[in-house]
Amino acid sequence: MARLIAVAQLKGGAGKSTLATNLAGELAREFRTGLIDADMPQGTSSHWAELRGDPELQVITAENVTQLGAAVEQFDSSCDVVVIDLPPRSHKFLREIMAYTDLVLMPLTASPADVWATEQLVDVVREAKKTSKRLKARLVWNRLRPGKSTEVFMATTAASIRAKECESRLGQRNAYLDAMGHGRTVCEGRDAKACEEFRAFVAEVKTQLKLA
Ligand SMILES: Nc1ncnc2c1ncn2[C@@H]1O[C@H](COP(=O)(O)OP(=O)(O)OP(=O)(O)O)[C@@H](O)[C@H]1O
Ligand SMILES: [Mg+2]
Repeated sequence: MARLIAVAQLKGGAGKSTLATNLAGELAREFRTGLIDADMPQGTSSHWAELRGDPELQVITAENVTQLGAAVEQFDSSCDVVVIDLPPRSHKFLREIMAYTDLVLMPLTASPADVWATEQLVDVVREAKKTSKRLKARLVWNRLRPGKSTEVFMATTAASIRAKECESRLGQRNAYLDAMGHGRTVCEGRDAKACEEFRAFVAEVKTQLKLA
């Protein structure tokens, strides 16, 4: 049975596709990995995968709830781990997959608008947890710029929305843009810091899923 990772955020632009593509690309080095692009027709993850052309990474696009369910079922037997890139405002998709999901990764930037959207998502996850014992969820801070005010903002937010966070945090780095445009992961580019922070994040995800 495949481990299922849903990359979700109700607000657009928080970093879902960035997280999903880099994570899928890195996991595919070690595991039979599936990537489901459920944000069609935008198709960011599937564009990236097309550029990448990695035979080790299986990719399916899903345009509706039925197709998403079928994609999950198909990958369940052929993959060890599956990453789903969800669209913003994805309540109906989340309802479809929550019962099978192992880990919801919720990227957010240090901005009030992202935090408000995350509060709603955390409520959705909390409701789903009542009936799913395997479901875990983690905030993933993204696009961070170092500084005292960012640290204070994150600490206040984590306390107020009462959701667990990944220890690894992702900075605002051009390496993520470059990687997306070239079908790469940041670990395949030249920015050593980006690679280091992303490797730490992947290690954390593997631990959460007992994949290590
Ligand atoms: N850590 C980062 N550093 C620099 N740029 C980033 C980072 N994360 C994301 N971006 C950029 O921010 C933009 C939005 O990111 P992304 O497409 O991953 O978000 P999304 O949540 O998938 O958006 P949508 O809701 O539209 O699908 C993209 O241009 C992406 O390259
Ligand atoms: Mg996206």
